[in-house]
Amino acid sequence: MNANEFYEENAELFISQTRDADMSAAYAEFVRRLPAGGSILDAGSGSGRDSAWFKAHGFKVEAFDSSPAMVQATESFADVPTRLIRFEEFEWEHPFDGIWACASLLHVARSSFSGVINRLASALNDEGSIYCSFKLGTQERVLNGRYFNDFDERLLVEALSHTRTYAAAMWRTNDVRPDRANENWLNALLSKRRAPTKSALAANHL
Ligand SMILES: C[S@@+](CC[C@H](N)C(=O)[O-])C[C@H]1O[C@@H](n2cnc3c(N)ncnc32)[C@H](O)[C@@H]1O
Repeated sequence: MNANEFYEENAELFISQTRDADMSAAYAEFVRRLPAGGSILDAGSGSGRDSAWFKAHGFKVEAFDSSPAMVQATESFADVPTRLIRFEEFEWEHPFDGIWACASLLHVARSSFSGVINRLASALNDEGSIYCSFKLGTQERVLNGRYFNDFDERLLVEALSHTRTYAAAMWRTNDVRPDRANENWLNALLSKRRAPTKSALAANHL
């Protein structure tokens, strides 16, 4: 079973376990970097919990997920346009102020991670931010049929060094679900690297 089959087969249970999760602390970190009413892409949107919150707070929201059941859940719960696509084939015809990838990039194989981040960066305004979260650790592992790429700070920074982004902020949290409070997460906000200006190139004789 791959991650997609897991979310299809366990859709109702997964939605019921995650829709009420309190993500307010992460929302606050993310939205304070965005213009009021800016555009957000909810990447791997699951139940639609976060799309609904962003929409209710005045942002223009679009979403995608690789699971048809999750696409349907996001559309019906959050009432935002939601596409059926995978990170690995991601492309979008316009950029966003923010991309929110809560507990979703963790299912992208480590070998594909840098390429996926560059795909997302192509759909991000120059001043934009990507929020992402991973289970804290160093392993690639399969649990109940789902692949997980766990990151700690060092591994994430190393992986991002091959991308057009860098970690502007990283912080650890406990799982917000009471029955999982002993699980640790690595959260990060990514910014786009600036291309060197002509004067910087000249000053450095590059
Ligand atoms: C742990 S859930 C998180 C859902 C939601 N963001 C949340 O925080 O509740 C992971 C989500 O990522 C989606 N997903 C997994 N692999 C994906 C892929 N390769 N491309 C796009 N979405 C994917 C799953 O279908 C699922 O909805």
